[in-house]
Amino acid sequence: MTVKKALITGITGQDGSYLTELLLQKNYQVHGIVRRASTFNTQRIDHLYQDPHDKEIQLFTHYGDLSDSTRLVSLLEQVQPDEIYHLAAQSHVRVSFDEPEFTGNTTGLGTIRLLEAIRTVGLPCRFYQASSSEMFGAAPPPQHEDTPFHPRSPYGVAKVYAYWATRNYREAYGMYAVNGILFNHESPRRGPTFVTRKIATAAARIKTGLQDSVYLGNLDARRDWGYAAEYVEAMWLMLQQEQPDDYVIATGTSYSVRDFAEHCFAHVGLDWRDHVRFDERYLRPSEVEDLVGDASKAHRMLGWKPTTHTPELARLMVDAELKPLLRSSIPGTPQRASLAPTAG
Ligand code: NAP
Ligand code: GDD
Repeated sequence: MTVKKALITGITGQDGSYLTELLLQKNYQVHGIVRRASTFNTQRIDHLYQDPHDKEIQLFTHYGDLSDSTRLVSLLEQVQPDEIYHLAAQSHVRVSFDEPEFTGNTTGLGTIRLLEAIRTVGLPCRFYQASSSEMFGAAPPPQHEDTPFHPRSPYGVAKVYAYWATRNYREAYGMYAVNGILFNHESPRRGPTFVTRKIATAAARIKTGLQDSVYLGNLDARRDWGYAAEYVEAMWLMLQQEQPDDYVIATGTSYSVRDFAEHCFAHVGLDWRDHVRFDERYLRPSEVEDLVGDASKAHRMLGWKPTTHTPELARLMVDAELKPLLRSSIPGTPQRASLAPTAG
């Protein structure tokens, strides 16, 4: 039996790591694009490391960047993937207001660079675009595949561009190219400046006496938060259908940021109101108030259904934060602070 080859952009991100695990389980040969950094940025996939000297190796990483079309072409020629999962992006909405041009270049143009590389090389592969509920922006919920887009951030605008680029290459060149329109999905591997991870981390650190409070922005925003490990299965399913199509992936439930904080703090026996403070730095110039997905098409056509809902997700994220803290709670253990710019 021939082994299928997958190429993942954004393999070092939250979704990339879960997707890699899934594809390895399914016996794929997995290739991932990693951008060069002055420090290691592969922590989320290090547990999957395989010795390159091993003949049975199934996981390969390659340096590359979405801004470098020549490299994308040479990688496609070298790897010849059957399936491409395009997950790489500047994915932080608040940061996209500070870096709109970079976000447009990476999150928007990055997609067309990759599509054009596939076309240039003439690869008969299947292509997954990581589209986002952020494209719906101000459109009232519940949002589904036919809801008109009304993006509210440079990130959302760039994702709309990438969405239409994907559809255009499907229509113009007959490519098997799909958009997975995923609503927010979280996990212990979520980037630390997204609100769920920020709250879960704070609840654990406050519980263990490492800090007193956490500063947040808009507590009224509502999101449909699912579990990332379950959402990557939907990505794979989208590339296994007879015809390419676009699908919303969501739980269909709605919780506010305040609700999420309440669940996290209650899980460790604390009252969120004693610890959450307001900082206007975390507000956005234009906000997305309410996202709730209608994923009935994915239920019907892909047989995909989520099982983890927001309250359980909050608990599992807090538990994951507590574990290492409890393990290293030896008096005098220094706690590291991050020097990353405050944007999220
Ligand atoms: P993430 O954790 O932020 O990961 C983003 C990935 O993209 C990282 O591997 C990052 O590399 C890589 N990347 C960024 N800029 C790059 C560049 N110029 N060249 C090559 N690689 C680059 O995001 P995620 O949560 O896994 O999300 C995956 C995708 O789904 C993203 O496109 C995101 O916009 C989209 N999405 C996410 C959600 C969600 O709720 N998570 C919902 C809808 C859509 P480094 O590790 O080096 O930074
Ligand atoms: N990040 C952050 N930090 N958000 C905060 C904070 C804070 O301190 N306080 C309140 N919020 C609110 C934001 O204003 C927003 O309404 C909500 O919490 C969620 O923010 P994020 O967790 O940053 O996620 P997002 O919804 O903006 O974007 C995520 O989901 C999109 C799908 O809808 C990202 O993963 C995007 O890449 C993804 O496309």
